[in-house]
Amino acid sequence: MIQTLEWTDQGVRFIDQTKLPTEETYVTCKTHEQVADVIRTMVVRGAPAIGVAAAMGIALGVNNSKAETVGDLKRELDQICDNMGKTRPTAVNLFWAIHRMQEKFERIRIRPIAQIKQGLVEESKRMHAEDIAANQAMGRHGATLMPSEGGVLTHCNAGALATAGYGTALGVIRAAVEQGKKIHVYADETRPFLQGSRLTAWELMKDGIPTTVISDNMAGAMMKQGKIGAIVVGADRIAANGDVANKIGTYTVAVLAKENGIPFYVAAPISTVDLACPDGDKIPIEQRNPREVTHIGGKQMVPDGVSIENPAFDVTPARYVAAIITERGIVRAPYLESLQKLAGTEAKVEV
Ligand code: MRU
Repeated sequence: MIQTLEWTDQGVRFIDQTKLPTEETYVTCKTHEQVADVIRTMVVRGAPAIGVAAAMGIALGVNNSKAETVGDLKRELDQICDNMGKTRPTAVNLFWAIHRMQEKFERIRIRPIAQIKQGLVEESKRMHAEDIAANQAMGRHGATLMPSEGGVLTHCNAGALATAGYGTALGVIRAAVEQGKKIHVYADETRPFLQGSRLTAWELMKDGIPTTVISDNMAGAMMKQGKIGAIVVGADRIAANGDVANKIGTYTVAVLAKENGIPFYVAAPISTVDLACPDGDKIPIEQRNPREVTHIGGKQMVPDGVSIENPAFDVTPARYVAAIITERGIVRAPYLESLQKLAGTEAKVEV
C-alpha cells in the first residue's frame, strides 16, 4: 500500500512526490514549520492529503511546545494554524483541517497540557483514518457510474498520493476495477507540474490498472475517437452552487466532455465542499512560480523575459458536472439544494 503520509515516533513521514516516479524517497518532518514547507513545495499535495498533513503538522507543533499554561499553548496553536493557513490557498481541506484541530483544542482545553497534546495527535490520526474510509465509501458509490469496460479519463492526480490513501477519483476507478469492470485509464499528463504522468501513472502501474498517458492537448481527440466512456476527477474546493475548483485544465476537459456527450464526474469528500463560498468566482486561485512553466526537468523551454501565467487551478461551472460523488452518496444538480442537504446529514464529531 502507498503510504502518502503517516504519524511516526520520529515525526510526520511523507513520500516525496517531487521525486516520483523515478525515486521513491521519504521525508520526515519534526516541526510544524517543516510540515508547512513540504505542503508549500508540494512534497505532499492533493486537497485531502494537504488537510491531513496540516492537522499532523499542527499536532507536531503543539506537541513540541514548551508552554506551561493552556493560555500560552492556545497562543502557540493560533500562531501555528496561521502559518499553516498561508501555505496554499485553494484547497479548502486545509482550512477545514485547521478549524477541526482548533475545535478539538477548545473541547479538551480543561484537561492537563499533556492530555491536550495527546488529544490533538489522536485527532490528526483519526482524520487520516477517516479520509481513507471516506475514499473507500466514495469508491463504492462512484463505481456504479463507471462503464463496465472501456476508457476512463482523469486529470491531475486524485489518487492515494493526493489523500491519506486509496484516492477520490482514482478510488472510484480502483473500486470499479475491484468489482470486475475492465477499465483502461487515460491519464492527462497535467502540465505544468505533471501530476498525471508522474503520479497517477505511477500509482496505477503499481496496482496493475491499464493506463495510457496522453499530453493534455490530446484529450479532445481521444474523446472524439470514442475512446473515453466517462471522466472522473477530484476537486480542491466545491462552491455551494456546485462550481468545482480543480487542477488547471479541468475546465477544458469538462467542456470537451459536454461537446462529446461524455459524463464528467467529480469525486470529493464532504470536507472539500465549501458551503460558505457561494460560487466558483469567489474561490481563491493559487498562482505558482513561473519557473514551473518555463522549465521542464530543469531545462528552459521558453525565451528569456517572456510573460508567463501559472494559475494552479481553474473553475468548472456546475452545469458541466454530471454528478458529484462523496462518501455520503452521489448528488446531482441542482447542487445548491443537493449539496446543502448532503452537508446537513454530516455526523457530529465525537470528543
Ligand atoms: O496542485 P495539486 O497537485 O495539489 O492539485 C491537486 C488537484 O488538483 C487534485 O485534483 C485535487 O486536489 C483533488 S485530490 C483528491
